[in-house]
Amino acid sequence: MTDQEPTELVTIHGDAIIGPTGRPKHEFPIPDALDSHGPARTIAVVNQKGGVGKTTSAINLGAALAEYGRRVLMVDFDPQGALSAGLGASPHDLDVTIYNVMMEKDVRTRDALLSTHIRGIDLLPANIDLSAAEVQLVTEVGREQVLQRALREVRDDYDVIIIDCQPSLGLLTVNALTAAHGVIIPLVAEFFALRAVALLKETIEKVQDRINPDLEVDGVLVTMVDLRTTHAKEVIQRIVEAFGDRVFETVIKRSVKFPDATVAAEPITSYAQKHDGAKAYRQLARELIGRGAARDPRMSSELLDAETEAPGFRLSLENFDGPFDLLLGLIAKRRMDVTAVALGEVTDEFLSYVRTLDARRALDESSNFVFVAATLLDLKIVQLLPDPSPIRRRTSPPSRLETCCSPACCSTGPSRR
Ligand SMILES: Nc1ncnc2c1ncn2[C@@H]1O[C@H](COP(=O)(O)OP(=O)(O)O)[C@@H](O)[C@H]1O
Ligand SMILES: [Mg+2]
Repeated sequence: MTDQEPTELVTIHGDAIIGPTGRPKHEFPIPDALDSHGPARTIAVVNQKGGVGKTTSAINLGAALAEYGRRVLMVDFDPQGALSAGLGASPHDLDVTIYNVMMEKDVRTRDALLSTHIRGIDLLPANIDLSAAEVQLVTEVGREQVLQRALREVRDDYDVIIIDCQPSLGLLTVNALTAAHGVIIPLVAEFFALRAVALLKETIEKVQDRINPDLEVDGVLVTMVDLRTTHAKEVIQRIVEAFGDRVFETVIKRSVKFPDATVAAEPITSYAQKHDGAKAYRQLARELIGRGAARDPRMSSELLDAETEAPGFRLSLENFDGPFDLLLGLIAKRRMDVTAVALGEVTDEFLSYVRTLDARRALDESSNFVFVAATLLDLKIVQLLPDPSPIRRRTSPPSRLETCCSPACCSTGPSRR
């Protein structure tokens, strides 16, 4: 790969300059400086394909936003730890990572934060430990919201939180989509780039439907555009047909400077400040800020709390008044005796609640409830029967409620989808 300065991918039609995405080219103004910081808007960089420029885009977009005075938290959410390495952390030498924050009761988000050599950027690092979280999370109550709860602890300190996802659509990525306000999808400008995206779109829609209705696609970023190939424009055109205005006007050209910068553990914006690639990521940062996606000044922390907290099933019993999740948490932590819970009343209240929901949510919540209620009943029987009882010698795997006693769940309070 050579690194000659490529020709501009623009054409001129009359007075209008048409940009690489086939739309009129805009100038994105230098953003105003901020006089206060936070609460952050959270952006997940997602594509289940590897090697499409997720990590490179996360680092360089973050660095460009920091140049414009934004306080940026970069979250490495890939067990490969490429983002951590790219920001100068050595993944194998890390004592505390995002894994510990998510899975260990006593570890706070701030315990894992690292400041980087780039001004304005902090890092929540990851290493191979994170791969275990995908499996461990499966049995957690509120398993999709674990990252969201971790980030909530620090979001007031930043303007933007960027999550670099691993190349999969598993539970870790669903956690990222649940924690995020927006998604950036990097796509390589190659003919089959769109193939993988149908599944990603479906996952985003599921998360929007069921967990995070405000999740937005901030933009599709065309990366590694190679001007020497004749079909680059054609591919970009197809991407624009599929995503319309969601495609960023900024495209990132292929250049050997990117891998070079990776080896140097630096963003291109400092490794080769004047390079086309550095300019492109600065333009992307301006475009993102121009779209209102780099911080949402309308949102105070309280509003964000209210917004992300699903109303869910609450109940009012003689000895308990509050969310059902809280009740489960109290039982799991043995602060409330299951034998004191009137399960018949709980079921009646649930039936009234579920009748207020639309069919799809009602089905989801009901299947959840049946599972939890059966476990509660089981626990109650065990406690009411004389000891020792053969029922105690259960050989089946631990139930969802019992696993709620895991450190991660109890550290943050139980939650239910
Ligand atoms: N615009 C680009 N031009 C050339 N190489 C790039 C570009 N963007 C990323 N790369 C290189 O491509 C490889 C994969 O990029 P990466 O950002 O790690 O992808 P992902 O995180 O999606 O797996 C890396 O070696 C990176 O340096
Ligand atoms: Mg990556």
